[in-house]
Amino acid sequence: MSSRGNFSSKLGFILAAAGSAVGLGNIWKFPFEVADGGGAAFVLIYLAFAFILCFPVMVTEIAIGRKTQKNPVGAYAALGFKNWKFLGLMGILSGVLILSFYNVVAGWAFGYFLEMVKGNFGIGQNFSQFTNDVINVGLYGLVFMAITAFIVSKGISGGIEKAAKFLMPSLVIMILLLTFYASSLPNAMKGISYYLIPEFSEVTPEVIYNALGQAFFSLSLGMGALITYGSYISRGDNIVSSAAYITLTDVGIAFLAGLMMFPFVAYLTDGTMEGFSGGPGLIFVTLPGVFESLGSTLGIVVGALFFLLLSFAALTSTVSLLEVPVTYVVDEFKASRKTSVWLIATLIFLLGIPSLVSNGYSELFTSFITYVGASSPASFMTFVEHVGSDTLLPLGGVLITIFAAYVWKKHNLIEELRVGNPNLEGTWKEKYIDFAVSYLCPILLTLVFIFTFLGRFFGVNFF
Ligand code: TRP
Repeated sequence: MSSRGNFSSKLGFILAAAGSAVGLGNIWKFPFEVADGGGAAFVLIYLAFAFILCFPVMVTEIAIGRKTQKNPVGAYAALGFKNWKFLGLMGILSGVLILSFYNVVAGWAFGYFLEMVKGNFGIGQNFSQFTNDVINVGLYGLVFMAITAFIVSKGISGGIEKAAKFLMPSLVIMILLLTFYASSLPNAMKGISYYLIPEFSEVTPEVIYNALGQAFFSLSLGMGALITYGSYISRGDNIVSSAAYITLTDVGIAFLAGLMMFPFVAYLTDGTMEGFSGGPGLIFVTLPGVFESLGSTLGIVVGALFFLLLSFAALTSTVSLLEVPVTYVVDEFKASRKTSVWLIATLIFLLGIPSLVSNGYSELFTSFITYVGASSPASFMTFVEHVGSDTLLPLGGVLITIFAAYVWKKHNLIEELRVGNPNLEGTWKEKYIDFAVSYLCPILLTLVFIFTFLGRFFGVNFF
C-alpha cells in the first residue's frame, strides 16, 4: 500500500479536498446565483443543501475510498461488487470530460493574469478576440495543464498536498485582501445589499433546484474525486469532521467571493448596479474595466491579484480532476505515476481542443448541437459541460448513495465512519447520515437528475 502514497496529515487532506471544491464554480457562478436567487435567502438554502444533502454524499465517498484504498473502479470491486465497476468508470469519464473544458477556462484565467501584469485592461472589451486567438489561448491551456500534471506527477504528499498547503492559504489571504479593499471603495454598501438583501419572492422552485446542483458541483461530488482522495487518508482520521471542514471552507470562500465582487460592480456602476454583464462575462468582460478605473499601478496590483486568485482556485481543482484517472491507471494497470500522468494529461488536453475552438473560432464546434425544442445551438464546450457535470454528476451521486445504503449496506458504511471517530456511535449525526444516505439523497438527487436531463436536452420545463 505504501507505494501508492498517502496524505501526511488530516490537515493536508482537508486542504487538498477543499482545494478540489473551491474552484471556478465558487468565484464566478456562486455570487450570481445568489444575486439572482434572492440574496441572503439563497445563501441559506445553499447552506442547507450543502449540509443536509451533499455532506452525507461526501462522507460516503470518503468512506468508500478509505475502506478500499482504491480508485473509484477498483473500490467497488474491492468491496466485492464487480458489477458496480461501471459506476467508477462513469465517474472517471465525467472527470475527464469536466477537466477537458475546465482547463480551457483555467487557461483564460491564467492568460488574464499575465495581461493584468502587463497593464492591458482593454482585454475585457476584447474578450471574444482573446478566446478566438486559439494559438495564444491554446498555449495558456497547455501551460496550465502542464503545471497541473507536474504537481500530480509528484504524488500525493510530495505533490498534491504540498501544493495545497501553499495554494489554499495564499488563496484565502488574496480573497480577504481583495474583499477588504473592495469594501473600502465608494458605493460598496450598495453592492453588498444588492448581493445579500433577502428577496423571498425570487425564491422559485427553479432557484431551489439550481442551488442543489450548484452545491453538488461545487463540493466536487458524484464522480469519485473524494473516493480517490479518501483512498489516501489514514484510518485514524475522523471522516465526519474532515467533511465538515471541507464543506465549510467551500461555502465560506464562495460567500466571500460575492462580498468581493459586488462592491467592485457597485463602484463601476456608481451604485446603480445596472448595465454590467453577469455570470462568466462579469469576470472576463466587466472586471478589467473596474481595475482600469483604479489607476494604472493600483489597477495592475488588484487585477493581477484577482486573476492569480482565480488561477489558484482553478489549479487545486484541475489537480483533483486529473488525480482521478491517474489513480485508476496506476492502481489497475500497475503503471508508473509519472508516465500515467503525462499520458493522461496529454490526452485530456487534446480532448479539450474542440472546446477551445468552440467560442467562435470553429463554426462546427461553436454551433455544435441543437437540443430538442431549443432555439439556438449549444457550443461543444457547453455540451460537454451539460453531459459531464450537469448530467453525470447527479446521476453518479444517486447511484453512489444507493450503492452504499443497499448494496454495500449502510451498517458497513457506518462502521467505517466510526473508525477514527469512536464517539460517533449513537449520535444524531450518525442517525442523520444513515437516514440521508438511505432515503433523502437518493430521492432528491434522482429528481435533480431527471429535471436537469429532460430540461437540458429536451426542453421540458418543469417550473
Ligand atoms: N468543485 C470545483 C469548482 O467548484 C470543480 C471540480 C473540481 C469538480 N473537481 C471536481 C466538480 C470533481 C466535480 C467533481 O469549480
